[in-house]
Amino acid sequence: MIDIKINITDRNGNKHEVSAPTDMAMNLMEVVRSYELAPEGTIGVCGGMAMCASCQCYVLSNTELPEMSDDEEAMLSEAFDVKANSRLGCQIQMTPGLNGLEVELAPEC
Ligand code: FES
Repeated sequence: MIDIKINITDRNGNKHEVSAPTDMAMNLMEVVRSYELAPEGTIGVCGGMAMCASCQCYVLSNTELPEMSDDEEAMLSEAFDVKANSRLGCQIQMTPGLNGLEVELAPEC
């Protein structure tokens, strides 16, 4: 089992360094939920289908991420508070290459 370290800044500006397993098919939104870094019901509303943007986060590190799918791009084009470094956490699977990833949760939508 390989765990990676991810730095997550919550919506109150508090930083958390968490470890995330890469062998459990978890995505970033699920990692945030498992550490309860955002209140229940404010993240992962659509269950990870790229249909709500409640899992939007800003990528602060220059970690290489998987390409955006059309669904992710479409959802972000309609979401609020979108920046150039916005991604949907539910579309980012935990893989060893993401060790050291740094993100900040976007405001609640
Ligand atoms: Fe809904 Fe990610 S959980 S878009």
